[in-house]
Amino acid sequence: GAAVEVDIAELKPGEKVTVEWRGKPVWIVRRTPEQVAALAGIDSQLADPKSERKPDELTPEYARNEARSIKPEFFVAVGICSHLGCSPSDKFQTGAQPSLPDDWKGGFLCPCHGSTFDMAGRVFKNKPAPDNLEVPPHMFLSDSKLLIG
Ligand code: FES
Repeated sequence: GAAVEVDIAELKPGEKVTVEWRGKPVWIVRRTPEQVAALAGIDSQLADPKSERKPDELTPEYARNEARSIKPEFFVAVGICSHLGCSPSDKFQTGAQPSLPDDWKGGFLCPCHGSTFDMAGRVFKNKPAPDNLEVPPHMFLSDSKLLIG
């Protein structure tokens, strides 16, 4: 399948770009240091904090870590909810927001049935989505170029 090369030189901390790969939306998020820090200490709230479910399908070996990424700053994921396939929305701001807990630390909210994911695409417990978001195969060609696929 055709791999997609993405220039990430202009992507600023806290921003996301979406590219198409194999007909699916793939997100590249450049996380802020605060967003990376917020991934720690919430394992008990997550359904699969260590990405142990369906590892071959959902999480390449190099992304089986807390940030689910090669470099903590850059998160790459297929933007499709593991429940019924809607595309979750960005909820990068922290704090109280409609449909989110008061102590929200940033992540994604699926508009269809309310599943929530952290900034590493890890699904919160007791939500309809069973699994974390898929991390597609990817690699850095340089500091500013990413290859998806
Ligand atoms: Fe995302 Fe149902 S499709 S929660």
